[in-house]
Amino acid sequence: MKFIHTAKPLKGELSVPGDKSISHRAVMFGSLASGTTEITHFLKGADCLSTIRCFRQMGVEIEEQKDRILVRGRGLHGLSAPSSVLDCGNSGTTTRLISGILAGQSFSSQLTGDASIRKRPMGRIIRPLRQMGASIESLSGNDCAPLRIEGQPLHAISYDSPVASAQVKSCVLLAGLYADGPTSVTEPALSRNHTELMLSSLGAELTCRGTTATINPEPVLTGTSIHVPGDISSAAFFLAAGLMVPGSEILLKNVGINPTRDGILRVIRAMGGSLEILNRTNSGGEEAADLLVRSSSLHGTVLEGELIPTLIDEIPVIAVLAAFAEGTTIIRNAEELKVKESNRLDIMVDGLSRMGADIEGTDDGMIIRGGKSLHGAVIDSHLDHRIAMSFAVAALAADGETEILDADCVNISYPEFYRDLKMLLI
Ligand code: S3P
Repeated sequence: MKFIHTAKPLKGELSVPGDKSISHRAVMFGSLASGTTEITHFLKGADCLSTIRCFRQMGVEIEEQKDRILVRGRGLHGLSAPSSVLDCGNSGTTTRLISGILAGQSFSSQLTGDASIRKRPMGRIIRPLRQMGASIESLSGNDCAPLRIEGQPLHAISYDSPVASAQVKSCVLLAGLYADGPTSVTEPALSRNHTELMLSSLGAELTCRGTTATINPEPVLTGTSIHVPGDISSAAFFLAAGLMVPGSEILLKNVGINPTRDGILRVIRAMGGSLEILNRTNSGGEEAADLLVRSSSLHGTVLEGELIPTLIDEIPVIAVLAAFAEGTTIIRNAEELKVKESNRLDIMVDGLSRMGADIEGTDDGMIIRGGKSLHGAVIDSHLDHRIAMSFAVAALAADGETEILDADCVNISYPEFYRDLKMLLI
């Protein structure tokens, strides 16, 4: 548990940890490449450590040094059968992406995870993988993990995904590495494209047109150096804190601003927030920049449609911003939030109500009538890292004391979150 109080201004500079999505992929794709992949600014959060553990279990040598990770790739067909069940912990990205890889191997495997993972929907990957000829089964018969996968030769498909999900898209594209022809995935809206960018930079033949990505099978992937930019989903908590707490000014260094992830920046501007994007760089197709925010008076906005996948993980903290903004914010088309590490729609509505916000849940989002002053409360994180950090930020701008239960769950994506927050509080 953690107690957080009304904050004085936040000031200073911060480098947030490496991007979670990119860190996972660097280990996975580096394992399937030949030669060594060197990863710098890797996120050593519990989720990415689950990915490392799984690939070690399949014979990949992964060396963790102080400031870099070295993955000694084994090539597309070099993984070996794991001697025990692969434990994906709390990580949906590990579970869904690894399933696509395992479907095309010449061995059988089983994967599982924590109580949250064992409730999250895996039917969304089971269905396309079966269309490719994969043998994949939910052992509890409810389309959730644990999963048993018997590696098979796979068929190429053109898959029309019903959800804009990078995990589903990536799972099918990874299975496509082992298929008998080009495999395509079309999404209803474009989700994050880190898989497409990184596989291309390792040598895969991949084309992207609109919301369709197509991959050719059996590429020769070659290990490379990958510098992971700061995670915009982690930066989001400090962007919000800087905007909300009067007198604050925060410079966040080298944050990934891939256009498929930058929705929060667009929302901040739409709400009237002061945000400068400085020192833009590009590495392996991934754009990054320094982000400077200053406290601002914010107003409500509407979040919907194709914007949603570009800020899906930031919606909890955007709800907090909206509660402190003047006027009404409406969030639509965000039903995916119900199947994240927790039901983030219900939990944000419940927690912000407890703090005194005027907020109402809808079928696919929420309506927040902002501008009421918030007060401290006891908040259950439900062991969801982004819920814990969102309420920590809300607490900074609320009156009195907020107690966050199971606050340590931040170690999933941001182990040093409370230390970094303290550092900016002057
Ligand atoms: C991720 C994709 C998103 C996101 C998750 C990470 C990824 O999930 O919410 O935190 O790395 O591909 P969905 O694919 O379920 O939208």
